[in-house]
Amino acid sequence: MMTFTKDFPDDFLWGGATAANQLEGACQVDGKGLSASDVFIFDANAPKERWLDQWAGMTHAQVAEAQDPDSKKYYPKRNGNDFYHHYEEDIALFAEMGFKCFRMSIAWTRIFPRGDETEPNEAGLRFYDKVFDTLRKHNIEPIVSLSHYEMPLTLVTEYGGWPNRKIIDFYVQFAQTVFQRYRTKVKYWMTFNEINCVKHHPYVSIGVVEENHPHLEQAKYQGAHHQFVASALATKACHAIIPDSKVGCMISYQILYPHTCHPDDLQACEEVQRVSLFFSDVQARGYYPAWTERMFAEKNVVLEKAVGDDEILRQYPVDFVSFSYYMSSTVSAHPEKLEGVKGNLITGGIRNPHLPESDWGWQIDPKGLRLALNQLYDRYQKPVFIAENGLGAVDTVGPSGIIEDDYRIDYLRLHIEQMREAIADGVQLFGYTWWGPIDMVSASTSQMSKRYGFIHVDQDDMGNGSKKRSRKKSFHWYKKVIASNGVDLSN
Ligand code: BG6
Repeated sequence: MMTFTKDFPDDFLWGGATAANQLEGACQVDGKGLSASDVFIFDANAPKERWLDQWAGMTHAQVAEAQDPDSKKYYPKRNGNDFYHHYEEDIALFAEMGFKCFRMSIAWTRIFPRGDETEPNEAGLRFYDKVFDTLRKHNIEPIVSLSHYEMPLTLVTEYGGWPNRKIIDFYVQFAQTVFQRYRTKVKYWMTFNEINCVKHHPYVSIGVVEENHPHLEQAKYQGAHHQFVASALATKACHAIIPDSKVGCMISYQILYPHTCHPDDLQACEEVQRVSLFFSDVQARGYYPAWTERMFAEKNVVLEKAVGDDEILRQYPVDFVSFSYYMSSTVSAHPEKLEGVKGNLITGGIRNPHLPESDWGWQIDPKGLRLALNQLYDRYQKPVFIAENGLGAVDTVGPSGIIEDDYRIDYLRLHIEQMREAIADGVQLFGYTWWGPIDMVSASTSQMSKRYGFIHVDQDDMGNGSKKRSRKKSFHWYKKVIASNGVDLSN
């Protein structure tokens, strides 16, 4: 008789996920250069609905002002939560929770401060030696993103970002340098964080300042093509330098529901979904889907491919598929006709009346995670990894003197239950990293008060505070979950 199990595999990788630009701080310490994210401001006086504007796109004037040493604005990603000076303490706390793995990124600008140098910055390389050694000391497996919204700013301002083919060589040089240096320390790599988000935020994804590109779609897809080639070449290099390495793609994934059962709504939904999955299609299968020819023709996009590009994509697909999953979304063929139903603030979907939402309008949908896992595994038949999942919330200290974040525990419990269902469905899921295990600066709004951590950091939106770390209630809960390998989900 056939059986199935809801048990997590014995070697399941439980952990947490972070990114250098949101966490490290020490922005210009030890030779680091400015990254694309280091120029985002936080302005508490601006209306809240404007806080996402920079994330959607930066202007030349904003970038130039940020490079002015006399600028009086506050740039939160230059401070992060100061992991750079707290990494030993922070990793010890992750170890106390029982982490099996830790997802982090290497700041490209610590290794190549401008991005176009020929020699790496030794001080930057040394920092990650120390981080990886500390992780190893605690038996925590590092999972490293090469690029997480933090390309060198010089590659944006002087080269125009990823639409410029030269960036491929700079990226591959960076990748080879870190593969070589950390070949005995890091086995799991991801080439680009949320590579499919170029659609929503081209500045931070591919370094495009929109004023330069009247035909923005052309710039986006050209930039994406160069990232695909760079990803394939990095995968090739990684396998050559670290023979037992595993390289993954990483996409942002939202389950999409048609707003109604009208065929036009389903068609609209399918179109959004396939554009989103196009990125992992290329990276995991090694070729462009057939339907893209029509899409490019309709958008008047003419991709410039070098001879051999298609062969490179075909020869070096990724080993595993990873994704971030925070919410689902709803799509209508005619959103302009719908009033008062605007949903997820970040992607502009239609509000789903069946789902609760976070303080930031992200609609919480644990069952969508099971669907996502099944869809991605069915589609690619490669191992899958949940690279990000989490709840951003306003935390307050409870009567017991600690943050009693039961809402975070509930969110996590419901998602883990659905992971168990997906495992029973036969999905080969090998790890889960909660975003983010310690409070850090929000990617999209640059707030500190949008907190995801199991560990509280005493720091406000303007960078004030002692930076003292303390355990929230969820810290103890996740520790119990990991110790029981996902079995004990009780309160
Ligand atoms: C993902 C990003 O999109 O979402 C992370 O990869 C980010 O960098 C996370 O932090 C949560 O988004 P935010 O804007 O709430 O920090």
